[in-house]
Amino acid sequence: MYELFFRLVFRRMDAEKAHHLAFRWIRVAARVPGVRALVRAVAAPRRAALRIVAFGREMSGPFGLAAGFDKNAVAIDGMSMLGFDHVEIGTVTAQPQPGNPAPRLFRLVEDRALINRMGFNNDGSAAVAARLGARRTVFPTTVGVNIGKTKVVPEDEAVQDYVASAERLARYADYLVVNVSSPNTPGLRNLQATAALRPLLAAVREAADRTVTERRVPLLVKIAPDLADGDVDAVADLAVELGLDGIIATNTTIARDGLGLTADPARTAETGGLSGAPLKDRSLEVLRRLYARVGDRITLVGVGGVEDAEDAWQRILAGATLVQGYSAFIYRGPFWMRAVHKGLAARLAASPYATLADAVGADTRKATS
Ligand code: FNR
Repeated sequence: MYELFFRLVFRRMDAEKAHHLAFRWIRVAARVPGVRALVRAVAAPRRAALRIVAFGREMSGPFGLAAGFDKNAVAIDGMSMLGFDHVEIGTVTAQPQPGNPAPRLFRLVEDRALINRMGFNNDGSAAVAARLGARRTVFPTTVGVNIGKTKVVPEDEAVQDYVASAERLARYADYLVVNVSSPNTPGLRNLQATAALRPLLAAVREAADRTVTERRVPLLVKIAPDLADGDVDAVADLAVELGLDGIIATNTTIARDGLGLTADPARTAETGGLSGAPLKDRSLEVLRRLYARVGDRITLVGVGGVEDAEDAWQRILAGATLVQGYSAFIYRGPFWMRAVHKGLAARLAASPYATLADAVGADTRKATS
């Protein structure tokens, strides 16, 4: 049904306009009590076997919405209604900014991929904090808050910019993510070098502790798939050293490997971050590498090219406690989570593992023992 609708309607529209239209429907549905209850009953039936604890929180399942879809925290209940077990809002920057000029989002339908150069278009940390503060929760869920650097702020003032966002937003975050991996803010990914990352993470940690005294806000870093293996190891070691709570692997890639089905080569040449199916292998590889290095000391979140239950299961076996997706949601539609949860529950039941937590990292442990 959705695939037909996608082909007839969304595919003919500009990608960003289609996003806004679908987003509006989700938000409207989530505002009408009868509708949201019905959609949730269909899209997100309870599956007790998939419950999992991460960052000290019990979650309804392992699968969340990756950052970038709900940049301004306006659809948390809508995404929960559709079955996502957690919602990562953002990337939010300290100051509001419009992002790059349109067009800035491109579909590579045959490759089941997207290229985006949105450039952190968002309302800014003060507005998003006010929204989160005023929010009346309909469906209790886990809310991650992903922060990034304001474009006009020079690289050598980046720490202060992240700190400003953390000061405003940490209190609303069930976990806080330092995003240093988007390809669409010039210089941002240089912050992944440990010499820059160490003071940045330490300062954000300090800001979160200073502004939220009643609990410890879990802190994560989100990394790019384009890091060399040695740099992935360096980030992993730094995360352990700093007592970080998690690593999200991965963001979009600037590489164009794995493409080949798309009809229009001009599309693949668009500048920006590539997401979806072509990212699958490298994201999984980075995740495996991280798990082999940090094991259970740090919670890993697997994202990048996850399209179905099998992909999600593979991420869990590779070492991810939580899994996220974005691009496949665009192609598979509102009942994607229902199918993923069903498939995951079936895989867990057929596996030798009693719980999802037991399955986390099982394949990587076998390969390295
Ligand atoms: C993203 N992604 C992203 N990530 C992030 O940390 N902050 C952001 O603002 C955005 N924005 C964004 C916009 C668009 C249009 C896309 C497609 C993606 C990256 C996203 O969270 C995820 O890491 C990648 O898309 C890989 O996952 P998928 O899409 O292959 O499931």
